[in-house]
Amino acid sequence: MAIVESRSRSEWQDLDRDHYLHPFTDYKELGKKKSRIITRADSVYIYDADGNQILDGLSGLWCVNVGYGRDELVEAAAKQLRELPYYNSFFQCAHPPSIELSCLLQEITQPQFNRAFYASSGSESIDTMIRMVRRYWELMDQPERQIIIARENAYHGSTIGGTSLGGMKLQRAQGGNAGTRASNISGQPYWFGSDRSLSPDEFGLQAARYLEQKIEEVGADKVAAFVGEPIQGAGGVIVPPQTYWPEIQRICDEHGILLVTDEVICGFGRLGEWFGADYYGVRPDLMTFAKGVTSGYLPLGGVMVGDRVSDVLIDKGGEFYHGYTYSGHPAACAVAIENIHIMQRENLIEYVRDDIGPYLQKKWQALSEHPIVGETRMVGLMGALELVQDKSTLQPFDKDDGVGAKCRDFLINNGLVMRAVGDTIVVAPPLILTHAQADQLIEKAWKCLDLTAQAVSK
Ligand SMILES: Cc1ncc(COP(=O)(O)O)c(C=O)c1O
Repeated sequence: MAIVESRSRSEWQDLDRDHYLHPFTDYKELGKKKSRIITRADSVYIYDADGNQILDGLSGLWCVNVGYGRDELVEAAAKQLRELPYYNSFFQCAHPPSIELSCLLQEITQPQFNRAFYASSGSESIDTMIRMVRRYWELMDQPERQIIIARENAYHGSTIGGTSLGGMKLQRAQGGNAGTRASNISGQPYWFGSDRSLSPDEFGLQAARYLEQKIEEVGADKVAAFVGEPIQGAGGVIVPPQTYWPEIQRICDEHGILLVTDEVICGFGRLGEWFGADYYGVRPDLMTFAKGVTSGYLPLGGVMVGDRVSDVLIDKGGEFYHGYTYSGHPAACAVAIENIHIMQRENLIEYVRDDIGPYLQKKWQALSEHPIVGETRMVGLMGALELVQDKSTLQPFDKDDGVGAKCRDFLINNGLVMRAVGDTIVVAPPLILTHAQADQLIEKAWKCLDLTAQAVSK
């Protein structure tokens, strides 16, 4: 019997409340409301235990890029699990899937990337990156370069390293900075959230210069790296003005500090290029990745290590005392290989860049005509809209009214998952979205904006 059939929906809900501590959850609140039990998925849809079909406008958690129900990925995993379910790569051993994936990643990344290091999640990838960056500077005889600058409202995962690096105040308050005393935070390129007195392009330059100010404040000789998501995802899909990333590149180059793009969300086609760095035309020294590398079918993450860093680690480093039992897990790597092949066979990068991306972007932009929408933005298939109380002045709703959460609840109850980050509604559907599914997404979104507007006007 399939696990799902062994109990009723309400049994699952009760057992869930009693035994399962969920990530990022207010346990008391969930205990009262009860979880929605998701039982299966296909294409761009998930289904709950009551049989409701829900369009997954968030690709699981920004990860199911090639959509659900891909037998090719299931078969790749099953074949590898039969052949060699596990072996480590610690003791001078390797296996074909991890080597083959490293070659594929080298092919689809910028020329400075010739080597990959593997982990099982985005957070572990970030921890790996932190250790590599610091090790690099030790080996360069500049051990005082320890500070890694990230941004306000950035999300870089939930391990101690990720929490310490990330810029989300509430998260940092719960145990941040325990592990990486030397991280520091500069401002974010959030034009809508600014006073909007500058043009977006002027603001982009100003926001990049927050980094320069921070470097001057802490001393360039103490700064090891800057890390940023090409587009901040969990922070509310903060799309930086076009001037932002080139200026960040200039600042990093001028101060000799390493540039890291955290591609955990933006990588693997989300922006209509393989990586966010490609979209913005920057040349990072390291890229962290996870999620879309396997479309979420199995856990895998990693760091693409540019020659500047890997040459030093290899030539001068001796043993690098870092790694995970599941670094380069054979089944996860086999799924990643097939996942990348699917993206190549089906031209999904081009599809997002030239077809479904522009199609959805145009319709998404039309949502800005809705009376409670102050701004819309979207790159590739990653977008957001801002709910506002007064469209003419862009005055936000009172934070305590929880308007974003109300809208999110209307959405899921009407068969569409999108996430609320405060009063910002974010969207990132699977890259295989069809035009008809895009139309459906927009229709549902408009209807739920109406329902939200009615609810707040009462
Ligand atoms: C940009 C970014 N970095 C790191 C992470 C952490 O990844 P994981 O949840 O796989 O540890 C996330 C997760 O959403 C992310 O969005």
